[in-house]
Amino acid sequence: MPRAYAITADAIARERARVDDDLDRVDIASIVALDELELPDVKPHDVKIRILVVSAEHNIAHAALADTVNITDMRGGKIYPGNSAVGEVTEVGADVTRFKVGDIVLTHCNGAPDPNGYPLRIWAYDQPDSIGWYAEEAVVGEWQLVRAPLECGLNLWEIGALPLRAPTAYHLWRRAEGIFRVKVSQERQATMNVLGFGGGVSELFLMLARHRGHNAFFCSGSPERRAALEDLGIVGIDQKQFNRFADRADVKAFGKEVKRLTEGAGMHIVCDLLRGPVFDAGITAAARAGVNVSAGWQLGTMVTYNSAGASTKQITLDHTHYETLIGIEAATSLYGRVFKPTIHHEIYSFEDLPRAMAEMQANRQTGIPIIRVAEEMPEAVQSLIP
Ligand SMILES: NC(=O)c1ccc[n+]([C@@H]2O[C@H](COP(=O)([O-])OP(=O)(O)OC[C@H]3O[C@@H](n4cnc5c(N)ncnc54)[C@H](OP(=O)(O)O)[C@@H]3O)[C@@H](O)[C@H]2O)c1
Repeated sequence: MPRAYAITADAIARERARVDDDLDRVDIASIVALDELELPDVKPHDVKIRILVVSAEHNIAHAALADTVNITDMRGGKIYPGNSAVGEVTEVGADVTRFKVGDIVLTHCNGAPDPNGYPLRIWAYDQPDSIGWYAEEAVVGEWQLVRAPLECGLNLWEIGALPLRAPTAYHLWRRAEGIFRVKVSQERQATMNVLGFGGGVSELFLMLARHRGHNAFFCSGSPERRAALEDLGIVGIDQKQFNRFADRADVKAFGKEVKRLTEGAGMHIVCDLLRGPVFDAGITAAARAGVNVSAGWQLGTMVTYNSAGASTKQITLDHTHYETLIGIEAATSLYGRVFKPTIHHEIYSFEDLPRAMAEMQANRQTGIPIIRVAEEMPEAVQSLIP
């Protein structure tokens, strides 16, 4: 039986009891545990894959912390996590047409598209019976796979960083841009000022903004991540200079700096992703008619704002989730050309996956965390291993 990571409600309860429900002290590495998995049979539209590389994703931290909902408990006490992967096709069902044995593929996490294609649920999180990809092997529906763009110029670790984050960034961008353009035409304002707060998704969002010719600004506490983006023409702002917006004075000082950087205009688009104290900073930074967009709530799920202030400034808040299947294909076409992710310097082994999760949650990584699952890599990706 292939090995796979699991999260159990018992492990969550044990760890929460140990730390007296103080989420800041929860050790995620003691909750995400190696297990074994019996794979389902390959049905006519299914594909069996050998997992090569995965990246650590925050959904797993949300599941282990049970900070949004206790999804493990709601799903019967045990889940197999893992929202994105690069894999090698090892078997295809009789009716599979798009893939053959030996193909290198990416998984996406849109677990159940609604009538417009947006996910009702996320695979390996709240989609019932879904089994994730922090595993040596998996059986998935053909519809869940995208061909890996092996010729895109990225190495295997960089490709492994993107299956979840790139579609999220692409979706955030097209929503934010579309909403701003409803209010202010290209004819009037060709170049937008675009701000993103720390993290892999924001970095990709800003790469897209920059690629489309806009002014892009990255507000992060990590000098390594800021430096990587500055190489792409994205201006860095040190979030720690503003004490991570600990109080109102820090937010005001940040607003003043944004005004200086944008010659008084402010940010037409803000990608938040963290909420918590970052939300106020993003609203303060907004230009008139600005759009504040987010697909995350890492630092807080609740936001409050002055509705009168937002109305008079014509600011729009938009809450997004994940891409449609068509949007995922479009985002994948931008690998390498637009999306050039920053990778954490250590490539973790499969056995070290719990530590990768814990270090991500502790914000100790210099880029997107990558876990090498397969020791032996197929010929098709040999040249992509740095
Ligand atoms: N809805 C979706 O489909 C979807 C998809 C992907 C991600 N997300 C969500 O988006 C968020 C970001 O994801 P990601 O993959 O971009 O994460 P990531 O690469 O790990 O980035 C998170 C960033 O948050 C910043 N940070 C951490 N602790 C902080 C603190 N206490 N104060 C201020 N900043 C802090 C850090 O930036 P600095 O230290 O550099 O400032 C860190 O790099 C997560 O909440 C995730 O769940 C949602």
